[in-house]
Amino acid sequence: MTRHLLRDDDLSPAEQAEILDLAVSLKKDRWKLKPLEGPQTVAVIFDKSSTRTRVSFAVGIADLGGSPLIISTANSQLGGKETPSDTARVLERQVAAIVWRTYAQAGLEEMARGTTVPVINALSDDFHPCQLLADLLTIREHKGELKGLTLTFFGDGTSNMGHSYVLAGVTAGMHVRVASPEAYAPRADVVADAERIAATTGGSVTLYTDPDEAAAGADVMVTDTWVSMGKEEEKSARLRDLGPYKVTTETMGHAASDAIFIHCLPADRGYEVDAEVIDGPQSVVWDEAENRLHAQKALLVWLLRQQ
Ligand code: CP
Ligand code: NVA
Repeated sequence: MTRHLLRDDDLSPAEQAEILDLAVSLKKDRWKLKPLEGPQTVAVIFDKSSTRTRVSFAVGIADLGGSPLIISTANSQLGGKETPSDTARVLERQVAAIVWRTYAQAGLEEMARGTTVPVINALSDDFHPCQLLADLLTIREHKGELKGLTLTFFGDGTSNMGHSYVLAGVTAGMHVRVASPEAYAPRADVVADAERIAATTGGSVTLYTDPDEAAAGADVMVTDTWVSMGKEEEKSARLRDLGPYKVTTETMGHAASDAIFIHCLPADRGYEVDAEVIDGPQSVVWDEAENRLHAQKALLVWLLRQQ
């Protein structure tokens, strides 16, 4: 059966670890594997803006011997005249895999149901699983084993990043804390799914409203934009509501003394994080951005091996 990555818990703990191991080896030897030599094409579709995802998939597919076909939905029939499933049936006759950045998770699910090639979620409103593979790789590089580490996410727990940290973090056996106002807590069904996974991995998920309490002793400090793509109309309410959850040097002072700071980028300095933190010595955001390349190459290799 074709495997897809639509949300973080599509990978079991063992599969997630296997992909991260492969990413480490591909980072050491960038041109080691060429599963797409021929070359085969991978479609990379964008309904929303992107820098990191666009570049890392294009470069990664080329590294693997393949040819990236970058499609902007604005210039295609998808999203206008054609459904995700009809688009998938057209693409599968010509490409090895489909990568899609979109709004609704339901569209990705429809795309995956309609095709025999792997579909990868390159960010939806609900999840950003490719980012999490890169983030876990980065945390592993800086902290060693993931299991047992405490990661605190500050801000919009309802966002794709909030949900993905909850699911992917517990899959890795981490203790995930989310610090947000109650109205911005992660979706209850996502937390319930994470709790089920945590029971098998030794991880945990805990929701906080007090940011300092959530920061206490954390190994990894994380935030994301307060205004995700598609939420622009809520900007002023979000800046007001999420203000107390900004990551400052004072917040970092509550974490473990050797804590690292990560952020998927792009960042709004002065809003969700102060420049002193994101540009300071505990920040590893540039390693994190580079690791999108290595993690996604590993993901593509792994998914194609399951075909
Ligand atoms: N982190 C991330 O997905 O960045 P882009 O929006 O630039 O792809
Ligand atoms: N939560 C952000 C992530 C950007 C990579 C957004 O959806 O805009």
